[in-house]
Amino acid sequence: MDKIKRKINNTIGKIITSLPGDTSQTSTEGAVIPEYDNPVMSALCRRAGAEGAVLLKNKDNALPLKKDEKISVFSRLQIDWFYTGYGSGGDVNPPYCVSLIDGLRNAGACINEELAAKYASFCAENPPDKGFWAHWPTSQPELLFSTEEMAKAAAQSDTAIAVIGRSSGEDMDNTLTKGSWFLTDDEKRLLCDITAYFRKVILILNCSNIIDMSEIEEYSDKISAILYVWQGGMESGNAAADVLYGICPPCGKLPDTIAVNYAAYPSSNDFGAKKFNNYSEDIYVGYRFFETFAPEKVLYPFGFGLGYTSFEFSGIEFKKTKSKVTVRFDVVNTGSFNGKEVPQIYFEAPQGKLGKPSRQLCWFAKTDMLSPGESETFTAEIPLDSLACYDDNTLHSYILESGEYRFYLGSDVRSAPLCGSFTIRGDIIVSQLSQHAAPAEEFLRLVNDGGKVKYEIAPKSGVNLRYRIRESLPVSGTAPGTKKCTLFDVKNDCATLEDFIMTLSLDELEALSRGDYTMNSPLGTSGNAGVYCGVLGSLRDKGIPALTFTDGPSGIRLNTTASLIPVGTCLASTFDTRLIEEIYTETGREMKALGSDVIAGPGLNIHRNPLCGRNFEYFSEDPLLTGKAGAAAVRGIQSSGSGACPKHFACNNQETNRTHNDSRLSERALREIYLKGFEICVKESNPVNIMTSYNKINGVWGHYHYELVHDILRGEWGWDGCVITDWWMRSAHSPEFPSLRDQAYRVRAGVNILMPGGARTGKHVPDGTLLETLGKKDGITLDEIRENAKYILKFAMKFI
Ligand code: BGC
Repeated sequence: MDKIKRKINNTIGKIITSLPGDTSQTSTEGAVIPEYDNPVMSALCRRAGAEGAVLLKNKDNALPLKKDEKISVFSRLQIDWFYTGYGSGGDVNPPYCVSLIDGLRNAGACINEELAAKYASFCAENPPDKGFWAHWPTSQPELLFSTEEMAKAAAQSDTAIAVIGRSSGEDMDNTLTKGSWFLTDDEKRLLCDITAYFRKVILILNCSNIIDMSEIEEYSDKISAILYVWQGGMESGNAAADVLYGICPPCGKLPDTIAVNYAAYPSSNDFGAKKFNNYSEDIYVGYRFFETFAPEKVLYPFGFGLGYTSFEFSGIEFKKTKSKVTVRFDVVNTGSFNGKEVPQIYFEAPQGKLGKPSRQLCWFAKTDMLSPGESETFTAEIPLDSLACYDDNTLHSYILESGEYRFYLGSDVRSAPLCGSFTIRGDIIVSQLSQHAAPAEEFLRLVNDGGKVKYEIAPKSGVNLRYRIRESLPVSGTAPGTKKCTLFDVKNDCATLEDFIMTLSLDELEALSRGDYTMNSPLGTSGNAGVYCGVLGSLRDKGIPALTFTDGPSGIRLNTTASLIPVGTCLASTFDTRLIEEIYTETGREMKALGSDVIAGPGLNIHRNPLCGRNFEYFSEDPLLTGKAGAAAVRGIQSSGSGACPKHFACNNQETNRTHNDSRLSERALREIYLKGFEICVKESNPVNIMTSYNKINGVWGHYHYELVHDILRGEWGWDGCVITDWWMRSAHSPEFPSLRDQAYRVRAGVNILMPGGARTGKHVPDGTLLETLGKKDGITLDEIRENAKYILKFAMKFI
């Protein structure tokens, strides 16, 4: 049955991927692969894969394994390992991939070769189902053994390594079914047999997302160690072996809470609906919910991860000045093994009128490798402004509410003890803003009522958007220039950008506002996701380059070989922003060498729910970790002159019906949780692009969202980069200016470029909607179109 299904799926896949690029989002598989030689990247991928692995359990020091300890490795995933997730975010042509079994061999492991040979022939005879776009397999059928075979394997070795693997992908969510969230019957049977026959069982979770752990817990007393390795990219077999053998002692920490079951997650009742989801858990996402209301529903808390040694925090000095909190402390390796620790500081704000989570991450770092007895000193500086919360009821401001602020320093959210506190007398408004992107519909959101769950109506939008937009339409003060000039002249300060824009015809301005229509554009490097900026010959003649945009974030998606780096969640688990910056610095260099100007990534959406199909591309349930990891990635990519494009702005938290779905949430949750990572990233690393999301946010599609793009991203955060759409967009009329639709509606919102540039149907001509209302009542104005060009050209100029 499995074989038939596999054949059907693979045939459908072949048909779909042979369709033109703008009908399917074709895989780049099957490309010609030239020589690859990047030892620096290989070493970084290996290190990041290892340092992102999270050791959840290590009973009786079962790990590290000894070289002479004979191990029986179970699961076909030892060969058919999940290196990355599916879709644009993982579709890279890696030069090679090191499987678990190869990684173990490279580490000199003493392997039960008879068992390994059985798996080798099973995998060769039953190649894995590859699936096709949005129908990829999340798990693979397993090989089962007779009791005699199990007994024989156990007679040869005391130690078994079992692997459970899950994948996920774009345009599909994981589901509450066996083989997705739950274990398959075969996986359960395998686990049951292995734990019955072997004295020491090491469980490796090779998963893109968090999966159900309650079934695994049933075998808990018989499992000695659990290592969550996520999907670690092309070096992940070596990376896992490095951790198992202590070559790289485990030092990853959970970027998400692992709860007792799915129902325990605060978004579990409001996820997966086709039309809209009310974010009724409000700001209480992940540990913010569990630590405040349901600590007993946590199996492994946020920030948790074991090492092979122990650490102590000592010499703690806590100081508060007018603008910041400073915590100085030492981290000491008190055990007998080398290791790295992740000191984390959480704060607890006073409940005030607004209610707060009982813990919020406000600082983290990672030590160097410390040998036993060695220590490292840190001075954490936490700006007071970063402790403020957003009042979306009346003030529409970030505010520090009156009362005591407590700080906790430790190695995970649950165990961190108090390290200091201070009191504020009287509320302080930190930044006076105004209401933006608030809900259009009424729904109930969770509030903290003295530690108890209470629901209240989320404040609705009171904004007259039509008025607000009309008041701030751009009016050019520049007289029409006659001077002939090129973009080079602007770059060399021989002409102003305004002068140059005046030389552009309407056709040229229209062309600038969209890409070259198709994926894999002939104007760019083969396998590109699109080409933008110099998409007309006349534009190129004026010095505007045709820029190649490639997918990411787990590597460069082109028809050539590129490094496949660990997925976002694995990188976040390192809690090491220096390492993330280093790995993306290498990606940036590779982009230069391969012909990619801008890469789609990092992915900055929040892990709102463990079933989201694209969680692997994103970092965490926490906005600070997301923002810091994102900023590190952007700094790395852009350090060599390549460009980064963080995505998807904003609230792309589910894939089901993703181009129609409406994420409905309070303005407070939007700002404190879902936009915060983008805000940190934008302010700390200044990416050249940002990609909007497919979904709606409080009733408005990301690519038409004036309040998010014009008001918040540009207005409040002061960012002047170039905003692009996700691939294709929904056709719509502006509710505020009904004559305006599609491209004009988008440009008025401040979304500069439609990608890849045309309608999905494959027509390669302008759709006419940008200019159709020019000069008419409420219509798009020339100044708006020129203003749009300004952002695009400022960006393009960075590449000449
Ligand atoms: C994804 C984007 C991606 C784009 C181009 C879309 O389906 O949502 O993240 O960059 O395709 O491949």
